[in-house]
Amino acid sequence: MTRYLVTGGCGFIGSNFVRLLLRRDPRAEVVNLDALTYAGNPENLADLASESRYQFVRGNVEEPAAVRRALEGGADAVVHFAAESHVDRSLEDPAPFVRTNVLGTQVLLTECRRAGVGRFLLVSTDEVYGSLGPDGAFRETDPIQPSSPYSASKAAADLLTRAAFVSFGAPVLLVRCSNNYGPYQFPEKLIPFFLTRLFEDKPVPLYGDGQNVRDWLHVEDCCEGILRVLEAGRLGEVYNLGGGNERSNLQITRTLLSLLGKPESLITFVKDRPGHDRRYALDGTKAAGELGWRPRLGFDDGLARTVDWYRANEEWWKRILRGEYRSTHQASEHP
Ligand SMILES: NC(=O)c1ccc[n+]([C@@H]2O[C@H](COP(=O)([O-])OP(=O)(O)OC[C@H]3O[C@@H](n4cnc5c(N)ncnc54)[C@H](O)[C@@H]3O)[C@@H](O)[C@H]2O)c1
Repeated sequence: MTRYLVTGGCGFIGSNFVRLLLRRDPRAEVVNLDALTYAGNPENLADLASESRYQFVRGNVEEPAAVRRALEGGADAVVHFAAESHVDRSLEDPAPFVRTNVLGTQVLLTECRRAGVGRFLLVSTDEVYGSLGPDGAFRETDPIQPSSPYSASKAAADLLTRAAFVSFGAPVLLVRCSNNYGPYQFPEKLIPFFLTRLFEDKPVPLYGDGQNVRDWLHVEDCCEGILRVLEAGRLGEVYNLGGGNERSNLQITRTLLSLLGKPESLITFVKDRPGHDRRYALDGTKAAGELGWRPRLGFDDGLARTVDWYRANEEWWKRILRGEYRSTHQASEHP
């Protein structure tokens, strides 16, 4: 495979993945289809400005014409990241989640079939399984029981992708990954949100009792896992990609405070959000056994590196907080 279409490549995981593809194979060519919503930031890929093997196409995955334009030169593989991805926003207004995550995925599946794309990988989430009790971990065969409009829309995308395999023999693969962290994550998600506030000595709002547990996976490990599934996964199969690093939100917050040398008094507990899943954990036996994929980066190391990255790239996140990154959106509209 040398020609890739990546959707949502201006977002957090997508931008890390585009960089991985180009770095790993000198023959790789990548088209990035991205609508540049508030979460899309072309500055995430500013280092590729003069890379001839990279092409940016601004467009919405809900629009067949935009997808066709992005597929014009053909694609050996499509990796579908584009999504509305923030649970809190889905509680305020589920509609864009249904449009992008459900309709957008179906449009892509249809257009990929028409174009004869060789492999289609959907980046799904551990959140489709719903909430887990104190023990055990989700396996790929467990029922899908999403709790939020976000996870319900991702579950629909997940099922439509499976249906394309069963009904049409489409060459699909699915990964369900756990909570990612690392460079270029939009500062509305827990770790960068708290980090960017703590750098400025602002209080950090923790939902409920802070005991909700998430399994953390460094974005570089996640991208390696996605690539491994794309290249060696069995068509029609789902692969869990977990980090094996379960931490409560309170533990994460305390670790960040200690890495930054800030006082615990900056923690403020706020009313829990509705439908807040208590715990997620993924059983990674399948990806490890079939594909030899395991996360490589330890959590302490990964988190310390993430803190260093946000410290060193203050201008990147400050331009987001000030809304200035939106000026590159306009520039992208008039290339
Ligand atoms: N971040 C995580 O921890 C995590 C965990 C599991 C799964 N996922 C999944 O991975 C994928 C990427 O997540 P992320 O955190 O990088 O998201 P993100 O919000 O950082 O980026 C999403 C990108 O998609 C683009 N986009 C949104 N709607 C679009 C549309 N209609 N058409 C074209 N482009 C559009 C945005 O402009 C943005 O560049 C998502 O599908 C998400 O559900 C994320």
